Amino acid sequence: MWAIILHGGAKEIEPDEADANRSGCLRALSAGRAVLEGGGSALDAVEAAIRVLEDDPAFNCGYGSVLNAAGEVEMCAAIMEGRTFNVGGVSIVQGVRHPVSVARAMLEEETTLIAGPGARAFAAEKGLELCDPAALRASKDEKKRGRTGTHDTVGCVALDRHGLLVAGTSTGGLDDTPVGRVGDSALPGCGFYADNDLGAVAFSGDGERIARKILAARVMHALGPQGPDEALGLAIRHVAQIGGEAGGIALTPDGRFGWMHNSREFAVAYASSDQPEPRVYLRKAEERE
Ligand code: GLY
Repeated sequence: MWAIILHGGAKEIEPDEADANRSGCLRALSAGRAVLEGGGSALDAVEAAIRVLEDDPAFNCGYGSVLNAAGEVEMCAAIMEGRTFNVGGVSIVQGVRHPVSVARAMLEEETTLIAGPGARAFAAEKGLELCDPAALRASKDEKKRGRTGTHDTVGCVALDRHGLLVAGTSTGGLDDTPVGRVGDSALPGCGFYADNDLGAVAFSGDGERIARKILAARVMHALGPQGPDEALGLAIRHVAQIGGEAGGIALTPDGRFGWMHNSREFAVAYASSDQPEPRVYLRKAEERE
């Protein structure tokens, strides 16, 4: 079987932003599922889906990233596969068009995480698309938001026909944070993790609090005895205890989806070979209705 679930961030979505969030998630889902339906790998599916989100100014990643305290875009992204436990991550990178693709290239390296100018130099060495760092600043009209304090990191987890589980994240971080600040999104065990025997998970939310409570590690520890929704619910309760807001998605080796959030909204889309009709929701409560 194959299965894919992705999210557009734990955040607040106003009524006039709902369509952009739903359609953006569905476009990304369609790119990822096309790979899986064609027999491709979960790595390619997660990268393809996140690249679509990185092109969409409705989401805080790639083009449309929020700005740090110096008014600049600094991005983090990561990808992990659950067979070899290989991890590739980039942090506070500037001037690359698709951070998730740089993270994907890092997956082949012994180094798991590269930051700042070194990350851009690595992207250049691999022939990946570079851009003017300022070219990633979408206008407020394009983003249709302009509020501060949103935590809309994107993420995707997928299972391919060969049983490979992959988790990926991409983010512009949080608004107005210090130059060089690193959140959870490129830290394995915090913002994401994948283990073919247990499952794969990706989070969005308050990076510092997600890291303090190692949310992805908590989910991995709970999966098995607990289902994916329960495991995520437990992790979200932990982050809430220290005042954090988060949303997470998970997938088990047998293709069961989980998603939970304590943010007001959390745009999620998913589909699988068993359930090919794509589903998209902005809140967990909508799924239950
Ligand atoms: N969750 C994204 C960040 O805190 O950077």
